[in-house]
Amino acid sequence: MSETVKQIDPREAAFQAHLDADGKIEPKDWMPEAYRKTLVRQISQHAHSEIIGMQPEGNWITRAPSLRRKVALIAKVQDEAGHGLYLYSAAETLGASRDDMVDALIEGKAKYSTIFNYPTPTWADIGAIGWLVDGAAITNQVPLCRTSYGPYARAMVRVCKEESFHQRQGYEIMLQLARGSAEQKKMAQEALNRWWWPCLMMFGPSDADSPNSAQSMAWRIKRHSNDELRQRFVDQTVPQAEFLGLTIPDPDLKWNEEKGRYDFGAIPWEEFYAVLKGNGPCNRQRAAARRKAHEEGAWVREAALAHAEKRAAKAAAAAAA
Ligand code: 3HC
Repeated sequence: MSETVKQIDPREAAFQAHLDADGKIEPKDWMPEAYRKTLVRQISQHAHSEIIGMQPEGNWITRAPSLRRKVALIAKVQDEAGHGLYLYSAAETLGASRDDMVDALIEGKAKYSTIFNYPTPTWADIGAIGWLVDGAAITNQVPLCRTSYGPYARAMVRVCKEESFHQRQGYEIMLQLARGSAEQKKMAQEALNRWWWPCLMMFGPSDADSPNSAQSMAWRIKRHSNDELRQRFVDQTVPQAEFLGLTIPDPDLKWNEEKGRYDFGAIPWEEFYAVLKGNGPCNRQRAAARRKAHEEGAWVREAALAHAEKRAAKAAAAAAA
């Protein structure tokens, strides 16, 4: 019986050996199509998350309780826009088209992080987002500074520097509320209750249920598994909540002396997959707001294009003269 032996492309063996030696892949390097596709998938979703992530906090810029808070929030929301543009540019180095990526998001065909489909009913939610969502993002993004694809890794270095400011300003908001009136402390606790479990879901499905992780780790796109990073986030965040005098909404949370980590309760995965499918509290609102911004921004794109075409024509005429 003739065995069909899969012919390994010698380039693929060299590619994997380079990754195994912790080498970086650059845009002009040969890469397996599947590696390129996985990166476009992850980086574009990451970019979409940054752009959609501007909405929950952007809604509070006009309502920030002080000029200092307003300035910090404006800076943070602007940073997220910049992170999105870095990441769209990193995806473009893999041949992805910016228009296609934006259209996929506008048409609701592209994924972005489930975490941004939750409402921000109080100012404490803005503190919880900075503290917990950006804290989870940092836990996930610091290892990505060592991801095997060069442009992605370099984008992450700049993003992580800005994320640490985001997390600090969020934690400061929570500290002020937790040390404020009973009403303010209650608002902070309610925000922690709303954001804790959706933040644990940010790290993706459990390792057993993650279809992409094994390959992404073999390609050193991911340096740690979803569960490893989730555990790291829990272990570093519980003491921060204790310092605030707030209670993590998980009755099963318990320090495990033997393992040197916190054991925690079951994650409500049915909620995760419902939000992933578009049935979260704010999915429709976020998509509609992104579509509206795109439509209202059409004149800026047209003007920039007209300006670029005029400059190109002028340069061509000068070169021909
Ligand atoms: N939200 C939406 N989709 C998610 C998700 C989440 N929280 N977690 C996983 N998924 C999706 C994956 O995209 C994948 O779907 P696909 O195959 O159709 O693309 C599916 O669920 C299975 O998950 P896997 O774990 O197998 O997929 P990945 O290997 O891609 O891992 C990930 C998921 C850990 C989110 C990884 O993609 C990643 O590390 N991405 C980069 C970081 C990122 O995107 N963070 C999002 C937040 S950005 C942010 O917080 C900005 C800050 O400034 C606030």
